[in-house]
Amino acid sequence: MSALNPYRPGLFVSLEGIDGAGKSTQLQTVVGVLQAAHRQVLLTREPGGTEIGEKIRELLLHQSMRAATEALLMFAARQEHVLCVIEPALLGGTDVVCDRFTAATLAYQGGGKGIPVERLQALARWVHPGLCPDCIFLIDVPPEVAAQRLAQTRRRDRFEQESVDFFARVRANYLQQAAGAPEKWCVIDGTQAPSEVQKDITNHLNKVLQEFDAK
Ligand code: TMP
Repeated sequence: MSALNPYRPGLFVSLEGIDGAGKSTQLQTVVGVLQAAHRQVLLTREPGGTEIGEKIRELLLHQSMRAATEALLMFAARQEHVLCVIEPALLGGTDVVCDRFTAATLAYQGGGKGIPVERLQALARWVHPGLCPDCIFLIDVPPEVAAQRLAQTRRRDRFEQESVDFFARVRANYLQQAAGAPEKWCVIDGTQAPSEVQKDITNHLNKVLQEFDAK
């Protein structure tokens, strides 16, 4: 079925991973696979993706605040993003590739900072009822490896300055989410060479596309 058919929703893909996992490098891989299949693709990010969302992102990345404030701001930005960007694109038949989504809030604000998961899930039900990525890639690396990579970054934001212990909790939460929904998640070994990571993503996404188009 053609992705340009306005009556068929687009595919929703998100990428997740702790800071320093190499996720940003692989976003273009996902976009490239979809474009090679002649699909219309929108690349966007969270927090951000809208004018208000990008302003909220600035606050989140550089202003110190309580964990609950952080979680609420993530969902405030997400509300604008879902209503103004993600849903209209998907409904118009465009695929959406999102650099992080709600799984990141569960992992960072839930796993990392201890906000109860029920509260985060209640916000998710409010902000995007019934919307969940069709496919979530987790680029998985041990926090020690990520820390070594981040050490080379010159100006680190508030999250990138967190401890190895914090990232170990975030990673554990991501892996738990992935284990709970293996039909949605694809865990990729991010310690491999970037070309191998790219191969794994390409193979999995092509399978997802086949199943999606067969539905
Ligand atoms: P980025 O560096 O991948 O663009 O993400 C910005 C930071 O925001 C990253 O350190 C992870 C963090 N984050 C959360 O803590 N919760 C969220 O819900 C999202 C989307 C990002």
